[in-house]
Amino acid sequence: MSDFPLFALSEEHQAVREAVRDLCDAKVAPYAAAVDEEARYPREAAEALQSVDFHAPHVPEEYGGAGADALATVIVIEEVARACASSSLIPAVNKLGSMPLLLAGSEELKKKYLGALARGEGGFSYCLSEPEAGSDAVSMKTRAVRDGDHWVLDGVKRWITNAGESEFYTVMAVTDPGARAKGISAFVVEQGDEGISFGAPEKKLGIKGSPTREVYLDKVRIPADRMIGDEGTGFETAMRTLDHTRVTIAAQAVGIAQGAVDYALAYAQERQQFGKPIADFQGLQFLLADMGMKVEAARQLTYAAAGRSERGDADLTFFGAAAKCFASDVAMEVTTDAVQVLGGYGYTRDYPVERMMRDAKITQIYEGTNQVQRIVMARQLLAGVQS
Ligand code: CAA
Repeated sequence: MSDFPLFALSEEHQAVREAVRDLCDAKVAPYAAAVDEEARYPREAAEALQSVDFHAPHVPEEYGGAGADALATVIVIEEVARACASSSLIPAVNKLGSMPLLLAGSEELKKKYLGALARGEGGFSYCLSEPEAGSDAVSMKTRAVRDGDHWVLDGVKRWITNAGESEFYTVMAVTDPGARAKGISAFVVEQGDEGISFGAPEKKLGIKGSPTREVYLDKVRIPADRMIGDEGTGFETAMRTLDHTRVTIAAQAVGIAQGAVDYALAYAQERQQFGKPIADFQGLQFLLADMGMKVEAARQLTYAAAGRSERGDADLTFFGAAAKCFASDVAMEVTTDAVQVLGGYGYTRDYPVERMMRDAKITQIYEGTNQVQRIVMARQLLAGVQS
């Protein structure tokens, strides 16, 4: 059998990888160290990605986007993360913020906001977490109260990626207190709406180029048609969104880890000790082999999860959690090992692997900690959903 496409990327997906890699080598990687050092938004990457519609590749063509499928989107995020993790949050968070619209939004909302996102008129952030509602997202306190043809939103959202940079915000808020998950609804809030403001950027260990801020909603009055889906469906939409976008965090983790493997491999062949390259020592070879093996396993699980995301398979919940959990643990291990390969040099800011190690950590935490992923996976296994 000469034609056996199973477990191989199509030519189109390969072409996407090559195009993003070339773009990132030229216009993202050169700024990665400065973006981290100065904790500044990666404008160069934002412009470069937007020039080829990769700032939000997932937006369907009918709304003016590139129409990348879930696997192509994963490849874009992976390749950007290989160069600069902060920059990879541009396509990743644009998908996270706009996925509720794709899953449950009215046609009017989709046309308006996905169109604006595709045209580069503004990014999309996702506002679920609150100071007292992190893993326990159902216990959120942000309220939305109906007032005639409007909803009025009040509350504080926390850990919001790209807050202040994004023009658009998907906000989950309580519309029926006491109804728990069934009393939560989702809305689109714009940065220009009166009453929205932002906290100071958090001072973080990694992904320093991507601002993380609180979002304050002080009597924000929005038209009733900005509700995404029906009243009371916001929590389900938020969870379904994460099923898809945990796959993109897995992709980010794979990309960070691959960047570390690439650097460690090159370094090990150049660095001489005891009269020969350190790559000639079996102790180093075993370390490099484990790193390469883990990244490849994480990549395969991530791509398998992307397939489920594209098709909307019933076992996506399991696969999204498994890919994000596994790949992020791999990213943490592999970047730590890359620092080890470089020894003392790896521990300094003169080399990129310490940045990659710091950037990797967040992938074990956001879009649900890896402890939450294990809860999600166990529930799916016990319910017999995972095939
Ligand atoms: N698809 C569809 N519906 C789902 C679902 C899914 N994947 N997961 C849950 N639901 C539904 C349930 O069926 C349930 O509905 P019923 O009441 O009709 O049965 C309802 O939602 C409530 O679900 P649970 O009973 O499972 O709720 P729970 O309180 O036990 O919590 C949890 C479950 C898995 C712990 C969930 O709260 C969770 O995922 N927590 C982590 C939140 C998270 O990932 N936060 C990250 C925010 S994004 C971010 O990081 C910011 C950023 O900018 C990057």
